[in-house]
Amino acid sequence: MIRSDCPAIEARGLYAAYQDQPVLSDVSLSLPQGEWTAIIGPNGAGKSTLFNLLIGNLVPLRGELRVFNEPVALHRRAGHIAYMAQRENMEWDFPISVRETVMTGRFGLMRADPLWRRLLPRRWWHPSHMAAIDAALEAVDMTAFAKRPIGALSGGQKKRVLLARALAQQARILLLDEPLAGVDSPSESLILDVLDRERQSGRTVVMVTHDLPSTRRYADQVLLINRVVVGAGSPADMLDNAMLARLALG
Ligand SMILES: Nc1ncnc2c1ncn2[C@@H]1O[C@H](COP(=O)(O)OP(=O)(O)OP(=O)(O)O)[C@@H](O)[C@H]1O
Ligand SMILES: [Mg+2]
Repeated sequence: MIRSDCPAIEARGLYAAYQDQPVLSDVSLSLPQGEWTAIIGPNGAGKSTLFNLLIGNLVPLRGELRVFNEPVALHRRAGHIAYMAQRENMEWDFPISVRETVMTGRFGLMRADPLWRRLLPRRWWHPSHMAAIDAALEAVDMTAFAKRPIGALSGGQKKRVLLARALAQQARILLLDEPLAGVDSPSESLILDVLDRERQSGRTVVMVTHDLPSTRRYADQVLLINRVVVGAGSPADMLDNAMLARLALG
């Protein structure tokens, strides 16, 4: 049972490094449930690293990271954290279709199905999986491309497939690493509308972005990061010139 009276994500005194290269220092933050948080910071600031800690790709050196006031691993295993990677981190030449890629978003949840069901051909899998995959493809307007290999998509379509994979998980928390980078304006509007609907249905949206206009319009709060937390607060307070100048200096 998820508590509703605690933050979705909370960090205290978090340190992270790759080998002996420090990246995040003494990061403390609290991201409310059911709201949209934008994470903003320069290249190399450690934004993706924060997501790496949440999805379990990296173990913190020190400090505490909690989800719904419980250890993050517990909610990861329960499929409560969906993740959309930066596009650059995917192997797009891998021969897999759009639909199959979105399907991988359900794999964590399928582990909870009884073994007999998992051994059956795909058409006898629990109908909730196929319904979630179809709904996710429809939400990002990619149903017509379901059978295409992912390598044959445009940049904006690739982003939409990655978003669909995260949506298919129907998770309580959506982590999105630069979902708007390199997409054209119709795809950008579509992605923002989809995320707005997710937030309205009670999900927590956490989005790394460099896009200030959409942050001003959609985000409930902004976290400024440059290896340390530079600031946290409303978009109006965080995105003024003085704060952005401090962010650039780190
Ligand atoms: N797997 C890795 N191994 C070693 N160093 C890494 C690794 N991933 C990231 N780094 C380094 O850690 C620092 C922070 O990287 P990170 O990807 O978190 O930055 P970011 O804020 O997401 O930047 P960007 O806006 O460019 O995506 C950078 O100096 C980067 O070179
Ligand atoms: Mg990044």
